[in-house]
Amino acid sequence: MIDIKKYLQEKQALVLKALDDLMLSPEGDFADHVTCMRYSLFVGGKRVRPILCLAAGSCISEDRDIERSLLPVACALECIHTYSLIHDDLPAMDNDDLRRGNPTCHKKFGEAEAILAGDGLLTFAFDLLSDPGHARGLSDSARLAIVHTIARAAGSLGMVGGQALDMDAEGKKITFEQLKTIHRNKTGALITASVLSGAIGARADTRQRQAMRRFGDNIGLAFQIVDDLLDVIASTEELGKTAGSDARNKKATYPAFFGVEKTRKLAEEAVQRSLDALSGFGPSADPLRALAHYIVDRTK
Ligand code: IPE
Ligand code: IPE
Ligand code: MG
Ligand code: MG
Ligand code: MG
Repeated sequence: MIDIKKYLQEKQALVLKALDDLMLSPEGDFADHVTCMRYSLFVGGKRVRPILCLAAGSCISEDRDIERSLLPVACALECIHTYSLIHDDLPAMDNDDLRRGNPTCHKKFGEAEAILAGDGLLTFAFDLLSDPGHARGLSDSARLAIVHTIARAAGSLGMVGGQALDMDAEGKKITFEQLKTIHRNKTGALITASVLSGAIGARADTRQRQAMRRFGDNIGLAFQIVDDLLDVIASTEELGKTAGSDARNKKATYPAFFGVEKTRKLAEEAVQRSLDALSGFGPSADPLRALAHYIVDRTK
């Protein structure tokens, strides 16, 4: 059995160190802009997406250097995720004041600066992914496949599209199918891409990639179901973001649809499906299994 608390602490430290090494430094002409990006990136966060990428890589490959090779990819995923949070919190979107236990980027630095910090982080992610200086250990074809997987998942056919549907659904009655589509895209797509990019970097074969995609799709859905649940049942202090934000914005969420009990059951079912997807793997998949359990058990 994996000690998930210890595992997360260890991998969070690894990701944090890599982010600090790879991120632009707040010096020169763009110091203020880089300071905004660094603020949102380093102010906290569970680092679930980069850790999923590393865990998927180590599940597939026995190469002891696989995590080191994947670290720039893991950091790129965290940059994209952080950009999505900065923009998600803007007054034109969810209008939230607190993120990762601190004032949101626009509260701290202003709206224009926050929009640009998001733009900068998104673009920097692809700088990181395509920089030959960070190519260590990954073949060019693997890197290209990773860039495509992440670009597709982050854009209009994934996260951005999901955010557009989420905004459009505010205050409206939608179907369960539409709710699932929102959740799978706004949150699930980047989580699936995190798992898949780790697997691709580790040279997974087609069958392994299919299993990883099924795993990612199901934990991605579970992740947003639990995020909706925590917005209802947890406190602002626990979450580090304002509880009750979804009700205030009349968001389409699982608890609004099904109530708290059924929502938890649906999250657990999605996690069970994710574990089923890993049935062909041995103990090398234990960290992924532990992460799947963590996703429903978490309190923030
Ligand atoms: C919050 O993501 C936004 C969603 C996509 C649900 P996380 O819960 O991963 O936020 P951090 O990175 O830990 O702050
Ligand atoms: C955000 O969903 C999804 C993305 C940022 C892509 P939420 O709006 O529910 O995330 P939180 O609750 O603000 O973290
Ligand atoms: Mg939102
Ligand atoms: Mg939000
Ligand atoms: Mg939420």
